[in-house]
Amino acid sequence: MTTTTARDFDNYRYAELPARTRERFAPAAVSSTPRGEAVRTADGRELVLRTIEPGDVNAIQRCFKRLSPQDVRRRFMHAMSELPMAMAQRLCRIDPEVEAAFVLIDENVQPAELRGVGRIFVDIPSNTAEFSVLVELEWTRIGLGAMLMQRLVDECRRRGVGELWGYVLMENRPMLDLCKELGFVAKMVPGEASLAQISLKL
Ligand SMILES: CC(C)(COP(=O)(O)OP(=O)(O)OC[C@H]1O[C@@H](n2cnc3c(N)ncnc32)[C@H](O)[C@@H]1OP(=O)(O)O)[C@@H](O)C(=O)NCCC(=O)NCCS
Repeated sequence: MTTTTARDFDNYRYAELPARTRERFAPAAVSSTPRGEAVRTADGRELVLRTIEPGDVNAIQRCFKRLSPQDVRRRFMHAMSELPMAMAQRLCRIDPEVEAAFVLIDENVQPAELRGVGRIFVDIPSNTAEFSVLVELEWTRIGLGAMLMQRLVDECRRRGVGELWGYVLMENRPMLDLCKELGFVAKMVPGEASLAQISLKL
């Protein structure tokens, strides 16, 4: 199994957001720049897509504060009124051996704000990875969730992971629809009527 480091993603490249159809998942045209990838949305907003860094702690905490209670529940599966510092630090300081996390950073504001994040945790014995994804409400419906998910799929393939999976609340229609578009299949979780397990064989 190959491993990845934050340095692997330490190159900005320019990428147009894919079209809002299945074709969105075709490889995007990219060109090299200093760190990560510059992403331009269909409505002209620009973000930087890069791997998460320890220095993103304050931005991730500010992002959490902008989330609705529904978004928090959909992402973390339970209510949380704040993102504790220790948890924020843990989320930003990943173990590259078994984790990858990509963030969408808005550098057009000061301080730069985190608008979306997608991450995987790899379980080496089963060769599977669990994902989570989040896009801030005002930045939804412009392809960013699909872009982050596609990035996670690509990262799993790069590592030779056999399956990408995650829990999604049954009421979370946006996420279920997004995953269906990407080819994931959903199944009920025994004893958890409100939860679906969705997965994609790679
Ligand atoms: C679910 C979530 C990631 C979607 O992000 P997004 O950036 O809006 O997704 P996209 O714009 O890429 O949409 C991709 C597809 O998903 C589906 N979708 C997204 N939002 C939807 C909505 N509100 N209603 C119905 N379908 C939706 C659609 O099929 C959409 O394709 P279309 O826009 O061509 O119709 C985002 O709403 C979010 O972060 N929610 C809170 C956290 C969460 O639920 N995380 C998932 C559990 S880990």
